[in-house]
Amino acid sequence: MKFILLYLFYALILSFALKQGALYSRVKSDRKDGNNEKPERILVIGATGGTGQELVRQLLGREYQVTAFVRNPAGLKIEHPKLTIAQGNVLDYESVEKAVRGNDAVLSALGHKRFFYPTRILSKGTHNLLRAMEKFGVSRLVCETSLGIGNSAGRLGLYYTFFTIPVILPFYFWDKARQEKLITESNVNWTIVRPGVLTNNPKHGNFRHGPDIGSYIWTVRISRGDVAEFMICQLTDDTYLKMAVAVAK
Ligand SMILES: NC(=O)c1ccc[n+]([C@@H]2O[C@H](COP(=O)([O-])OP(=O)(O)OC[C@H]3O[C@@H](n4cnc5c(N)ncnc54)[C@H](OP(=O)(O)O)[C@@H]3O)[C@@H](O)[C@H]2O)c1
Repeated sequence: MKFILLYLFYALILSFALKQGALYSRVKSDRKDGNNEKPERILVIGATGGTGQELVRQLLGREYQVTAFVRNPAGLKIEHPKLTIAQGNVLDYESVEKAVRGNDAVLSALGHKRFFYPTRILSKGTHNLLRAMEKFGVSRLVCETSLGIGNSAGRLGLYYTFFTIPVILPFYFWDKARQEKLITESNVNWTIVRPGVLTNNPKHGNFRHGPDIGSYIWTVRISRGDVAEFMICQLTDDTYLKMAVAVAK
């Protein structure tokens, strides 16, 4: 009994820390005006991942010039005349800088599976990305993080709040909170996209978005295809500029 109470206390404290550690839905009132010109050359970070491959496919379908940032080119099963591969690692600043140069905007779907010990892959990688973007004046960043951080803490539902996040993902989510903080403190025109649990279901097109999406009780989900579509739309839509927006079905 004592153990259960202690555990619940830990889960609640973690949820509270994730709420405080990241940003609220809109952090700055000194909104930097977006550039409504359509960007043409887009860099995708995490391009071999589930959301990343969807981003690459959909961007190419919309005639964008795409640079896919990958650790292993064999992991990307897409070929297209408008697709360039940039091999590198987000932890290696030189390779990030090379990839960012010459692009108009960046879509990041960076993630990893090193769940059970402290890592800084998301925050350090994003630090390198922001540094290169600021250096070359690449101003638009749309970054996928997750529901469960900042003012969306608790909104992945009870199962995630009291089991998955405290037991499996505490370090991962803490690094995501650091990642969000870095983005909000940067000078780029950012949008943070916080999806519910990701599925590989076909793109549905019918999903909700806004600062208050999610449920404190049920697990909310969305397909990677829908997240990718939403992220791409942000390139030409300033509704959520300098905001964190949640997306779920
Ligand atoms: N899974 C969920 O239910 C869920 C829910 C909400 C939010 N999210 C978040 O959404 C994002 C995308 O998730 P996903 O499942 O679609 O992605 P994913 O399949 O986990 O892909 C992650 C991508 O990041 C790349 N990556 C990892 N470390 C890297 C490094 N050091 N340098 C360069 N690239 C690196 C991976 O490359 P490799 O292919 O080389 O490994 C891969 O391309 C993640 O941040 C995830 O946490 C996930």
